[in-house]
Amino acid sequence: MAYHNLLIETADSIATLTVNRPDKLNALNGETIEELHACVNALRGDAAVRVVVITGAGQKAFVAGADIEELSQLTAVMAETLATRGQELMWKIENLGKPVIAAVNGYALGGGCELALACNFRYASSNAQLGLPETGLGLIPGYGGTQRLPRLIGRGRACEMILTGTTLTAEQALAAGLVNRVLEPPQLLPAVLEVAGALASRSTGTLRLALKAINEGANMTLDAACRLESALFGVCGGSDDAREGCAAFLEKRKPKFGNS
Ligand code: COA
Repeated sequence: MAYHNLLIETADSIATLTVNRPDKLNALNGETIEELHACVNALRGDAAVRVVVITGAGQKAFVAGADIEELSQLTAVMAETLATRGQELMWKIENLGKPVIAAVNGYALGGGCELALACNFRYASSNAQLGLPETGLGLIPGYGGTQRLPRLIGRGRACEMILTGTTLTAEQALAAGLVNRVLEPPQLLPAVLEVAGALASRSTGTLRLALKAINEGANMTLDAACRLESALFGVCGGSDDAREGCAAFLEKRKPKFGNS
């Protein structure tokens, strides 16, 4: 399927999804949000795709936020609908069931930071800047940022970032735990593709169950989450991939996982 504001390229079981509105620093207008919904739905159903990488077109921005031109025209009802639609997208990305990695190659502001937060983990280029500057526009984050940021970096740091609208440099984001690695711009995508390749060689079923335990468990009490973990451990513990992975270790060879 061809998209107006997205590029999608698949190689070696890794789909690279690029938000492609470089003249607007890849800002997420309504059309782009709808295209992302369609694209993420397609990626979910595509068994040939085992890992997804999300990045932005050009050298300057991952995604510089929701489209402020559109935000300037909203009524209260439209604003709530927009936030709900964006949140549904972020949930879908976070719960894709296959690893989704953000390659944050520049500004990741507002909805762009929220898109990065919805990915399972983030690598950033040294020129990246991440933040939720919405309060400066008389708004609050609406695509899950008030919830995912505090859960990731702690409530105090998140309050400071959201209330002041301060953006973090890549190094500050690394120190805060907002990104996992910082790389020079030319090395960003190769490093992300390297880790994506390592994930693509693992059992898709195992990774899906690990993500389910992490994501669903995050919204439960520790006790309930550990019971979920043991139930999911039961599912994977009896699987062909567990037989294969353990046998390969004992036989000192590389495992050959199925694509279940
Ligand atoms: N929505 C709509 N358009 C945006 C945008 C956004 N979130 N972010 C950038 N753009 C547009 C600019 O309006 C400009 O368009 P134009 O050339 O037609 O005037 C173009 O992208 C380039 O941006 P510009 O501001 O000229 O680049 P810069 O290097 O001077 O500044 C930023 C970069 C990221 C600091 C600045 O663009 C910015 O602050 N953007 C908004 C960030 C934000 O508040 N996001 C949260 C929204 S909820």
